Amino acid sequence: QSGLFTYDPGFLSTASNNSSITFIDGDEGILLYRGYPIEQLALHCDFIDVCYLLLQGELPMPEQKSEFDHAIKNHSMLHEQLVRFYSGFRRDAHPMAVMVGVVGALSAFYHDALNISDPVHREQSAFRLIAKLPTITAMAYKYNIGQPFVYPQNHLSYAENFLHMMFSVPTEKYEANPVIVRALDRILILHADHEQNASTSTVRLAGSSGANPFACVSAGISCLWGPAHGGANEACLRMLEEIGDVSRIDEFIQRAKNKEDNYRLMGFGHRVYKNMDPRAKLMRETCHEVLNELGLHNDRLFKLALQLEKIALEDDYFISRKLYPNVDFYSGIVQRALGIPTSMFTAIFAMARTVGWVAQWSEMVSDPDYKIGRPRQLYTGPVMRDIPISFSQ
Ligand code: SDX
Repeated sequence: QSGLFTYDPGFLSTASNNSSITFIDGDEGILLYRGYPIEQLALHCDFIDVCYLLLQGELPMPEQKSEFDHAIKNHSMLHEQLVRFYSGFRRDAHPMAVMVGVVGALSAFYHDALNISDPVHREQSAFRLIAKLPTITAMAYKYNIGQPFVYPQNHLSYAENFLHMMFSVPTEKYEANPVIVRALDRILILHADHEQNASTSTVRLAGSSGANPFACVSAGISCLWGPAHGGANEACLRMLEEIGDVSRIDEFIQRAKNKEDNYRLMGFGHRVYKNMDPRAKLMRETCHEVLNELGLHNDRLFKLALQLEKIALEDDYFISRKLYPNVDFYSGIVQRALGIPTSMFTAIFAMARTVGWVAQWSEMVSDPDYKIGRPRQLYTGPVMRDIPISFSQ
């Protein structure tokens, strides 16, 4: 019977259960990074501002920002031996499989000299991960399509540099559309951190054993990949493509309500938000802006998504369960409008979330009282018993 063992609900059971980085009020649909509302950050800041804020706790003054930006850019290249690592993957490997491998392999280059109790080492690891993730992510795409890798250009902004590494080719001049750059920068801001979601908890739990941050972020990427988490943006776009037309929305809503094969509307629902995810609202606005500015205002999937959201939010099944669109519902449509292939959506989520992962990891390991996470379980197996005589030889 249960009760034989004490049940410790404390998930991480370390000092790191507290954090001053991100606040979410799920009932009110509030999201703050270091106290600043996500709506204001998305409107007035760029991703480098937000990276500085998440790591340092304050928005950067101009000279702090340029120094920080320079430090990040200094680490944007990949060791050439790691570049060769890609050739070990199948050409059609999912980008997330490549990122799990390559980010984890960064440990082979930095682990030995790393002392995580040294704040300078922690900061350098954070810079390396934030700087290298766009290069690693873009290379995963280039490897998939058989095009040559494009090296980072440090005169470009973070978002522009990533687009350049993704889409430029040696034979043509490449200029990123400013509308696309701004939209991608906002997508990165909206995905940067989100309190103790599954992948951040994975990074913290891995880091609580003293594992190096590169291995911890690789573990976070693995967890984010799941369709119940970061993989939902890719799954949501595939769902919209499968629905195809507004006339079929009711059929899919019914499938979800009947739980056919545990079918769920991708991009709907959240463990914490029982109101609209503020990021979903901002993503929907970004969608509107980008599609209008790119002359795609009649985008079929966007109209389908708007209608699906409207119908679902009028349906008692969703209302009674407080199921609202989450960050993944519109992010796929925006990224598709930016010309980003569906297979890269979750990889870009991982690239953006890296700053949140390293900020949370750094906050934990810099706490002198943190201990290794050791979740407990409520034991429901047999009570203690002896092996029957008949069994023993
Ligand atoms: C992210 O944690 C984070 O912060 C994550 C994230 C971040 O930034 O890191 O915000 C990013 O992961 C967003 C979530 C992306 N995932 C999806 O969109 C996948 C589809 N959604 C789900 O599977 C689900 O909503 C979860 C996992 C996100 C949340 O599940 P909950 O809140 O634990 O809800 P539940 O599984 O307990 O379900 C409650 C009820 C059930 O029905 P009943 O048993 O009451 O009859 O709601 C139903 C579920 O069947 N339900 C859904 C549904 N989600 C829940 N029904 C249809 N469609 C859905 N999407």
